[in-house]
Amino acid sequence: MTKNALYALLAATLGFAGCGKDKSEGGEGESAALTKASNEPTAPVEIAISCGAVGKELQLCKTGAAAWGKKTGAKVKVVSTPNEASERLNLYQTNLAAKSSNIDVFQIDVIWPGILANHMIDLKPYTKGAENDHFKAIIENNTVKGKLVGMPWFTDAGVLYYRKDLLEKHGEKPPTTWDELTTTAKKVMDAERKAGNDKMWGFVWQGKAYEGLTCDALEWVASYGGGSIVDSSGKVTINNPKAAAAIDMAAGWINEVKITPQDVLNGAEEEARGVFQSGNAVFMRNWPYAWALAQDADSPVAGKVAVVALPKGPSGRSAAVLGGWQLAVSKYSKHPELAADLVMFLTGAEEQKRRAIEGAYNPTIGSLYQDADILKATPFFGSLYDTFLNAQPRPSTVTGTKYNRVSVEFFNAVHEVLSGKSKAADSLAALESKLKAVSKGGRW
Ligand code: GLC
Repeated sequence: MTKNALYALLAATLGFAGCGKDKSEGGEGESAALTKASNEPTAPVEIAISCGAVGKELQLCKTGAAAWGKKTGAKVKVVSTPNEASERLNLYQTNLAAKSSNIDVFQIDVIWPGILANHMIDLKPYTKGAENDHFKAIIENNTVKGKLVGMPWFTDAGVLYYRKDLLEKHGEKPPTTWDELTTTAKKVMDAERKAGNDKMWGFVWQGKAYEGLTCDALEWVASYGGGSIVDSSGKVTINNPKAAAAIDMAAGWINEVKITPQDVLNGAEEEARGVFQSGNAVFMRNWPYAWALAQDADSPVAGKVAVVALPKGPSGRSAAVLGGWQLAVSKYSKHPELAADLVMFLTGAEEQKRRAIEGAYNPTIGSLYQDADILKATPFFGSLYDTFLNAQPRPSTVTGTKYNRVSVEFFNAVHEVLSGKSKAADSLAALESKLKAVSKGGRW
């Protein structure tokens, strides 16, 4: 049985809530609330929120939810979900298709408003204008047919982590182009291996066939001037020589220059972080969350890491894919008003500040990028502000409910090239035909 089928089965059998590692945060648990006899005082209402568990996410979600529970007297149950976005979407869709009321608040990816809009309430009646404090592009992204499907919780953009100490030791500077990255990674890796660290690698990233590979590969392609898979008019643009050259470059890191381990083909964000944080990589592509963990007191690389924008391609452009997560309220929630109150609390400035300082989660409220405490904890929120503001979106708005299909076809096509099974030009030609068939002539 595949992992996805297993999740679907678990979700169907347990009604999803049972999948979470974490049970009630606020007291006696769900069953007590449901079994009270009518003459007994009514138990406090319980709101269930699904949270990610990458890095410090789950812990921060729990403490935030508990603070809201304390303020309102409501109980909150935090349900953790699989780390990988593709698996998480699967699980959500199973739960929502069953119109289950056991999750009130969903943490949804920036690429999902179009896919999940029909299952979520419009949050506008609950925001009191708070959406105006958040980045406009994200609010637009989260608005589907006039409905505010999710409030932005944190934003994301791909960044380049590097080992300051190693670059200094070998007389190198942080790279500004992919060519420089390749040369520096190889030089430092070889020298470190010669000096005794045979586990050292040059560059780790997300290469498994999943949503994360779509992000990494789109960054290479966009930096080469190869477009964004599907353009904003709905036209499939991915089959072009610049996109092919970008993907062949990445395959070369694994199969020719050998600065990237084969294992990257099975790894997501946390696997890349594992290699980098244990001191075995010179460079890593990841999201900002990895900063807080790399700097933790028990991290072997604490104090030795810095973050810069991803390198430029031959087009002279550096591209960081836009990621990030929103909070949405299920249409099947029995307590939509209370659930929306939790969403407004968690996405508010105070919580966003706490999460930025403790977990390096990027605020979606622009003014927080001038907050001295945040900039002290995570200096690159200041130096890379433009990167965060101008991040490259995936084509999820134009492809709407079909986005996931597009992404799956794209990451599979890229994965084949990375695994050495085909050349990018052939793989992208085949991808173009498939996407054109899905797109119904660009109308999606
Ligand atoms: C991060 C991003 C999200 C993206 C995912 C891919 O969580 O915030 O937008 O889809 O990574 O792995």
